[in-house]
Amino acid sequence: MHIVFAASEGLPYSKTGGLADVLGALPRALAAAGHQVSVYVPRYRQTKLNDPQTVVRSITVPFDDRYRFCSVVTDGTHAGVRFYFVEYPPYFDRDALYGTSAGDYPDNAERFALFSRAVLESSKVLGVPHVFHCHDWQSALIPVLLRTQYAEDPAFRDVANVFTIHNIGYQGLFAPDTLPLLTLPWDLFTIAKMEFFGQVNFLKGAIVYSDFVTTVSRKYSQEIQTTEFGFGLEGVLRDRSSTVSGILNGVDYEEWSPEADKLIAAHYSAEDLTGKSKCKQDLLTAFGIADADPRLPVIGIVSRFAAQKGFDLIAQVMDRLAREDMIVVALGSGDRRYEEMFLRLNKQFPHKIAVKIAYDNALAHKIEAGSDMFMMPSRYEPCGLNQIYSLKYGTVPIVRATGGLDDTIEPWDARTGKGTGFKFTEYSGESLLLTIKEALRAFRDQSSWQLLMRNGMSKNFSWTNSAKEYIRVYERARQSRAGSAS
Ligand code: ADP
Ligand code: GLC
Repeated sequence: MHIVFAASEGLPYSKTGGLADVLGALPRALAAAGHQVSVYVPRYRQTKLNDPQTVVRSITVPFDDRYRFCSVVTDGTHAGVRFYFVEYPPYFDRDALYGTSAGDYPDNAERFALFSRAVLESSKVLGVPHVFHCHDWQSALIPVLLRTQYAEDPAFRDVANVFTIHNIGYQGLFAPDTLPLLTLPWDLFTIAKMEFFGQVNFLKGAIVYSDFVTTVSRKYSQEIQTTEFGFGLEGVLRDRSSTVSGILNGVDYEEWSPEADKLIAAHYSAEDLTGKSKCKQDLLTAFGIADADPRLPVIGIVSRFAAQKGFDLIAQVMDRLAREDMIVVALGSGDRRYEEMFLRLNKQFPHKIAVKIAYDNALAHKIEAGSDMFMMPSRYEPCGLNQIYSLKYGTVPIVRATGGLDDTIEPWDARTGKGTGFKFTEYSGESLLLTIKEALRAFRDQSSWQLLMRNGMSKNFSWTNSAKEYIRVYERARQSRAGSAS
């Protein structure tokens, strides 16, 4: 099967979060299973290409004021996957992918509309796939265009579309006059299509027009059909529930495993854990607390500082947590409020709470390897990758039972010796604190703690199985298309 992926970020070329990890790994797993896979992403300033070749010189994209002309370059084929980059420097050659601390770029609708049209137009030159697999609101116009403006285009008649929601908290909401600006018809502005409380909602368009909708864990696929988690789109999803499913993300163990990781101080494995203490010392040094007592448990955090990730709970409990025998090591950036909170806590408890406000992949690996526990008290979490990485590194996750966190972490039971981490359900600081304390108590019994570590390390969340599930969804999407076309 020929599958074209379209998304706003993908490793190894661009990344702000887990979407990039998925785009870096799932296409490769599909290619390894014998499929033809291409990936389209924008060419940003941070995109480093080894051998750029222009493959489509000029694509005309209409806007209401004038045409814009973009091109497509490739960087060759890696691990069986061909990457294409939509090039339009006025839109993509910028400091950041989506916006700055001042907010989203005001022309994001135009930027990602141009990207989406460019994918469709260039696929006519470079190869129309059997299935377009689009991700999040930035490529959500692709299914909309396929079933509206391009509906009569013979090139796309039999093409199926699968859409994956990685985070329903980001929908691509824009003013109504965005439709004429993008030369989209006003009849999309109805409650059954893209209208959403007086605005245009790109993600809603994708849910309405895709053949199948997936999300990145089974639990999240159910949660987003409820008022609590649906961000207003629960009704639209429920209407389409027979085409909505959850497929858990895999992880790339070539990048994220203590046996192979090139960015950590020492390798280790479930059979021989000795290297982990070296990694711990290296982590403490990297965070400027080399003189801390290495017997104290280290709780790691690597995260976008966003409300989604549960930082309000951390704010509630940090002062009390700092009285316990432990160290917190946090890496992240984002919401100013939480950056300041961590900096303040670091000033107040310099030997217990160490912080780096940064985006730093090498440090993220050091935290996974050098910490004893990993904290993710998310308010909601579509899948979450860090807790899955943590399992492999023998770094015990402390998570809230939501979305992918609930699907991937099994509660530790010291009596049976079963389980991989610590979970709480109620979204409150008290529950988080109680659960951390439970983990700290368990840590004191090092022999059972090692059993707990090894339980996690033996789990396998590689992409092989999830890739098979995607293939099944692609096949169903193609069948339903064939059915509706005839
Ligand atoms: P999300 O996509 O919601 O941010 P995930 O857990 O799915 O959450 O993925 C986050 C990814 O981004 C992981 O690969 C993680 O290591 C990485 N990451 C997040 N914040 C940072 C940071 N400050 N520095 C380096 N890597 C980070
Ligand atoms: C989103 C979600 C995260 C998920 C990632 C990759 O960013 O917030 O939970 O793991 O996408 O699917």
